Amino acid sequence: MMSNKLFYANLVLAFYLSCHYALAQTENFPLPLKAVNLGNWLVIEGWMKPSLFDGITNKDLLDGTQVQFMSTKLQKYLCAEHGGGSVVVANRTKASGWETFRLWRINESTFNFRVSNKQFIRLTNRDGGSNLVADSDSPSDLETFEILRNDDDPNRVRIRAPNGQFLQAISETVVLANYEGSSWDDSDPSIFKMNVLSGSIIRGEYQITNGYSPDKATKIMRDHWNTYIIEDDFKFMSENGLNAVRIPVGWWTTQDPTPPKPFVGGSLEVLDNAFTWAEKYGIKVIVDLHAAPGSQNGRPHSASRDGYLEWGDSYISDTVATIDFLAERYSNRSGLVAIELMNEPQGVNLESLKSYYQAGYDAVRKHTSSAYVIMSNPLDRDSKVLLSFAGAFSRVVIDVHYYNLFSDRFSNMNVQQNIDFIKNQRASDLSSLTTSNGPLIFVGEWSSDWKVQSASKKDHQKFTQVQVDVYSRAKFGWAYWAYICDSNFWSIKWMIENNYIKL
Ligand SMILES: *[C@@H]1O[C@H](CO)[C@@H](O)[C@H](O)[C@H]1NC(C)=O
Ligand SMILES: *[C@@H]1O[C@H](CO)[C@@H](O)[C@H](O)[C@H]1NC(C)=O
Ligand SMILES: *[C@@H]1O[C@H](CO)[C@@H](O)[C@H](O)[C@H]1NC(C)=O
Repeated sequence: MMSNKLFYANLVLAFYLSCHYALAQTENFPLPLKAVNLGNWLVIEGWMKPSLFDGITNKDLLDGTQVQFMSTKLQKYLCAEHGGGSVVVANRTKASGWETFRLWRINESTFNFRVSNKQFIRLTNRDGGSNLVADSDSPSDLETFEILRNDDDPNRVRIRAPNGQFLQAISETVVLANYEGSSWDDSDPSIFKMNVLSGSIIRGEYQITNGYSPDKATKIMRDHWNTYIIEDDFKFMSENGLNAVRIPVGWWTTQDPTPPKPFVGGSLEVLDNAFTWAEKYGIKVIVDLHAAPGSQNGRPHSASRDGYLEWGDSYISDTVATIDFLAERYSNRSGLVAIELMNEPQGVNLESLKSYYQAGYDAVRKHTSSAYVIMSNPLDRDSKVLLSFAGAFSRVVIDVHYYNLFSDRFSNMNVQQNIDFIKNQRASDLSSLTTSNGPLIFVGEWSSDWKVQSASKKDHQKFTQVQVDVYSRAKFGWAYWAYICDSNFWSIKWMIENNYIKL
């Protein structure tokens, strides 16, 4: 039985909590938000700090890296005939889709090879068999191959099959795993020139954790979380005119402390700390599901393993469960201002996305009526595609991302053309999205980087200022990408410290 003392203590606590909760529910905060994205913190984006990957052995062979193999003897490329579901041959003079293999990394030297129809190359059987086919749907031992690199030329390789034998291109149409020799001569049928498509290298959460291997990754990730952004940074933000953060999180964070490998436990506590620090310095928090299960865009920042987008109807319930977890955990935090259901879907079916947004919205509303629910506009659709759909919900926000990058139209723009684009096209897009009783609009990502080669500091300040001015018309506000980054114009901290931006 509960003692009297404990009973009253609980009563007081319950009273306090209900006041606190009511406060959080009704508290007014300034819209539009002036926010910053805490990118590359709880969801890795290698381009923002490449040195994080430096300690990985064979760091050019990460999950999703695309490779091609040319037989030095035949001078022909290995090919999964028909892109998969069939034999492996060595009769192509040029390499494209069927001759390109995506790596699934098992450890620093062993891999599965995913072919263009998404199946895997396998050895037909371990005993006696030496035939290869590209028809496996789920990789296991018979799909695991070792890449041995030449000491002097790491892109000269031999490939060892799970039967212990090397692959050899006996003829253009006969490739078998039955070679035991060990020479590195061009005439050796087991030698291949490996072409690593450098543009295909993915450096996201999956690649860093699996690259270090889960054992070593734990320390690497925890060190990163504990140093990349710290309490002082929230102080800095509050002292410099920022009043909110958008925090990208991955689905695995909701499975802390034991997320499926290769993901590493411990990130949930870091997110908890972020709330504590944000609340201390009067900063609002947007929790942004940046990496949904299955990957909603195939990008490194969605934690895709190999660049394929897999998210769809079969992932909706898992994704809703992720949102439900986040909403339950943070809905009573006074810092919470919004939960974003998914970042930058691209290439997903629009009806599936809407079903998910409906279910995700309901999951948030189970726990809070006050937090805003943010729906990210699909990157490959018109910015108005969700407007009437989102109008049916209350306290809902549409997130659009504005970069003067990632499209050829910006390649040759000069300073003034970039500035005019913001004043005209961006401003008009925003005003066409802005309605009196519809969803609020949020420019959830933008940056001051552009394609202009040699701009003066003054030019850059003008370009930044016009963006601040125009994006401040978005009723929910804006969020700069990012807080800190090796590239200066992607770091609002650097922009502030060097007087490029005034808030
Ligand atoms: C390569 O070999 C396969 C299997 O024999 C054959 O179907 C295909 O036509 C050949 N392609 C070329 C370019 O020789
Ligand atoms: C990699 O995995 C293979 C197959 O499981 C194993 O034989 C090999 O020893 C491993 N290599 C390293 C460096 O861990
Ligand atoms: C929020 O709820 C959790 C779980 O009920 C509780 O442990 C925590 O103390 C609450 N936090 C606040 C700030 O009310």
